[in-house]
Amino acid sequence: MDANLARLQSVSPPEGESFADCLLRGLGKTPKEIACKYFYDEAGSRLFDAICGLPEYYQTRTEIALLTRHAGEIAALMGPHVEIVEFGAGSLRKVRILLDAAHAPRAYTPLDISGDYLQTVVRSLAADYPTLMLRPLVGDFTQSLEIPALSGPGLNQGSNTPRRAGFFPGSTIGNFKPDAAMALLRAMRASLNGGGLLIGVDLVKDPVRLHAAYNDAAGVTALFNKNLLARANRELGADFDPDGFAHYAPYNAAAHRIEMYLVSLRRQSVTLCGRQVEFAAGEPVHTEDSHKYTIESFREMACRAGFNPRAVWADEERLFAVHWLESR
Ligand code: AVI
Repeated sequence: MDANLARLQSVSPPEGESFADCLLRGLGKTPKEIACKYFYDEAGSRLFDAICGLPEYYQTRTEIALLTRHAGEIAALMGPHVEIVEFGAGSLRKVRILLDAAHAPRAYTPLDISGDYLQTVVRSLAADYPTLMLRPLVGDFTQSLEIPALSGPGLNQGSNTPRRAGFFPGSTIGNFKPDAAMALLRAMRASLNGGGLLIGVDLVKDPVRLHAAYNDAAGVTALFNKNLLARANRELGADFDPDGFAHYAPYNAAAHRIEMYLVSLRRQSVTLCGRQVEFAAGEPVHTEDSHKYTIESFREMACRAGFNPRAVWADEERLFAVHWLESR
């Protein structure tokens, strides 16, 4: 067996609503909606990677620059021999910055819904970090955050259990409604067993800049949004015409969020899992919210979730912030 793969451990696969159930339920509602977690099949993940490299999408490069610039301080706050727990394995580039800076990190525990992606992660890290314990866990961190204690030689006594440092970059927290974001922070805090959380959060800013980030000139975000329809066609044999819908992503300044929709360009009827779904001309389907926070509003939410906000780093233009939160 491949030595790297021998290190793979899995918890139970994610449960919950299927894509088909989500579509039938969400498109049966008024207003219609589709949950944003379904963006990320293989094609959607590729499109999201392309978004991260777009000139208008400042988030990724700004966060990477912050992590790089402050890696030493972050490593000192995390402490030595830490177990880094990543909620949703994202860009390896980001976690490598932490792993390179951390003092003798003990383990890296990425928690992701995609077992295939986790295998890729493990393969790519194993060679570069031969002494690091890699324990990918398959699961949906929005549903359940039970992370078993590390096991292995010398790890069975409580005092030897490494301190955990959570990692949740990319401002994914912004894709949760504020109540759900708070619940998620609470659940993360519980699963970190007293450890801290390093979290990237997109900042409230000039609406023009925000609007551009979700309405790029090359149309990649539009393709990403419409991939929900293409995915329904591929996986469920639906007959959506992606060209019959427009990508629409306004900034709601009062609510501090980008809202993303697919708007039906004409009256149309779509066959989905043996049912007909009717769309009026101009009818929107809500597909995503991306909430923006000020440094203060995020720190306040973190406090209410039981964290002590300890450090925060932001770029000169105040586009993006990385917070280090400690469990209270
Ligand atoms: C993953 N998430 C933080 C992205 C965001 O900015 O809200 C998803 C995205 N949607 C459109 N562009 C990027």
